[in-house]
Amino acid sequence: MAEHLNQPIIDAKPTTISLISLVVVCAIFLYVSYRKLMPKPIPGIPYNKSATRSLFGDIPEMMSYMSRTQELWPWVVEQTTRHQSPIVQVFARPFSKPWVIISDHRESQDILLRRTKEFDRSDFTIGVFTGLSPDMHITFKSTEDRFKLHRNLLKDLMTPAFLNEVASRQIYANDESFVKLWDYKTRVAKGHAFRADEDIFNAALDVIFATACGLEAKDSNTAVHLQQLLSAQQPSQPSLDEPIEFTHYIRPAGFEAMSTVCGSLETSLKAPFPKFAHWALRQMPYMRKAIAVKEELFTKMIDEAIERVNLGKQTNSSALDDILFREAAAAKKEGRAPVFKSRAIYDELFGFIIAGHDTTATTLTWTVKHLAVAQEAQSTLRSHLRSAYPAATAEQRNPTREEIVKTHIPYLDAVIEEMSRTARLFNGSIRTSTVDTTILGHTIPKGTDVFLMQNGPGYLSAPFQIDDSKRSESSLKAKNQVGQWTPDEEDMKAFRPERWLVKGDDGKEEFDAHAGPHLAFGLGPRGCFGRRLAYLQMRIVLVMMIWNFEFKETPPAVSSWLAVDKLARHPRQCYVRLEKAKF
Ligand code: HEM
Ligand SMILES: *[C@@H]1O[C@H](CO)[C@@H](O)[C@H](O)[C@H]1NC(C)=O
Ligand SMILES: *[C@@H]1O[C@H](CO)[C@@H](O)[C@H](O)[C@H]1NC(C)=O
Ligand SMILES: *[C@@H]1O[C@H](CO)[C@@H](O)[C@H](O)[C@H]1NC(C)=O
Repeated sequence: MAEHLNQPIIDAKPTTISLISLVVVCAIFLYVSYRKLMPKPIPGIPYNKSATRSLFGDIPEMMSYMSRTQELWPWVVEQTTRHQSPIVQVFARPFSKPWVIISDHRESQDILLRRTKEFDRSDFTIGVFTGLSPDMHITFKSTEDRFKLHRNLLKDLMTPAFLNEVASRQIYANDESFVKLWDYKTRVAKGHAFRADEDIFNAALDVIFATACGLEAKDSNTAVHLQQLLSAQQPSQPSLDEPIEFTHYIRPAGFEAMSTVCGSLETSLKAPFPKFAHWALRQMPYMRKAIAVKEELFTKMIDEAIERVNLGKQTNSSALDDILFREAAAAKKEGRAPVFKSRAIYDELFGFIIAGHDTTATTLTWTVKHLAVAQEAQSTLRSHLRSAYPAATAEQRNPTREEIVKTHIPYLDAVIEEMSRTARLFNGSIRTSTVDTTILGHTIPKGTDVFLMQNGPGYLSAPFQIDDSKRSESSLKAKNQVGQWTPDEEDMKAFRPERWLVKGDDGKEEFDAHAGPHLAFGLGPRGCFGRRLAYLQMRIVLVMMIWNFEFKETPPAVSSWLAVDKLARHPRQCYVRLEKAKF
């Protein structure tokens, strides 16, 4: 009996012991992983202490800011003023290294332009774009072989020959349709405001698609939209101060699909786990369908181009023609079969549209809002244009494509520069450190995402005072390269093109791109690839808009300056009130 009673006790001992030790091991493991997973600050760089006490770091505060304001980056840059430091860190992604935030133009310029061996395309940016276009070079590190290969595919596209002979034709042709659309709307609106952002969005889509793949003017969104309006009933006249509502335009399936697919980037931009979030979105039926329609459209465009290659009929009308004809020539020279339908070609062509559409459209949308307020800048620009194109003025016609592209007008350059400065689509450039390095005297571990902000101190308010001893050697050497406007917050936020003008030796006004800090396109080898195309597009569109229309002030009810972060920073509301400009 005693034996019987003893049995289980003897038996239970090891079980209990192993159970206890298992619990202890698990607890230690969990504790260690918890400690490992907790935010780990980089020594010396200011941060919010309370954020390091939770697995989620700064995320709850960021989320609450985002739900209140629909924006993220103002919160990010605000941390520099909270800690009164040009360099801070925030814990924005769970289980990851902190983000390092810099708000100082000299240091940012130095990192982007000169410290390219220590800083490369950021893991943040790669995370945002990989789901959508894994084979576009925006997702590659500069050291990868395929980066050079892809850039080689695109190498003609920012040359003066391509820009002046191919891109400018597509931009100008589509812009003529845009002027016709707004001519019609201006006539019907009779001084009432109407919504402008969708028209600009569609016209910019026409332009970039035409430049990438070719597009007949009659098939453009803008031309189809005008046809629809002409055959529809005219909208009724609203009462004083109310905007007029035109029939909503529905894009053809291909354009609609491209815009849906591009819009998906908003999801990966905002999610704490971007790759996963985008993957989940891609499983949704509407997204699958949009991706399929987009793929089909590109296959059709590429097939048509291949036919032109086989017939030797080079039209020189798009990036696609350029890429395929060059591939055909290279293949012939190397005695191999040409590769026309590679993933690289699909993704780079679509990448051209992803990177070039929303950006230019949104910059132009902010511009029409600014122009309505900056009446003086608007009329100054118009009078500069009237005297710069005397023949067009005398004949009361639009300036030609050649006149716009070739005439040097410093005030126009200044307005274009001011457009992207004030639109501030992105609040900065992002880089990831490729080695252990230092910024402003602080150690930055390899693999840290560094955010170089352009929406705070140094850009929109007075810069932080930084001791020269903290700066890098290359930054010290470049000390007076970029000017600094009087650090008056009101002025730094205002739309004032004159800030970009200086008096030349002959007393004439000249445009100076280094008059003050400007980071809208990033800088250096991984700065915006399409910058020259963007300037060309803004030049042609702006000239045609100002030449044809006077932008009047809009009624207060439709003049909100609130913004919303989508892929970039958009105005939440954009209406224009136009009058045909007089000669
Ligand atoms: C107003 C218009 C535009 C703005 C404000 C803008 C801005 C930017 C910015 C901030 C970057 C990242 C730069 C960095 O990390 O330092 C970028 C990259 C890029 N942009 Fe633009 N962009 C514009 C128009 C365009 C256009 C029209 C294209 C047409 C092809 C384009 C193509 C690209 C490409 C391909 C990249 C990636 C470059 C790389 O990975 O090396 N962009 N852009
Ligand atoms: C630190 O973060 C907490 C929330 O995590 C927030 O309430 C507090 O205002 C922050 N403090 C500073 C100085 O940023
Ligand atoms: C950039 O920062 C400014 C000022 O903080 C803000 O108004 C704007 O919305 C921000 N843009 C984006 C894209 O977050
Ligand atoms: C297109 O460009 C090629 C090479 O520059 C030239 O030989 C050809 O004549 C051009 N074709 C047209 C239609 O302009």
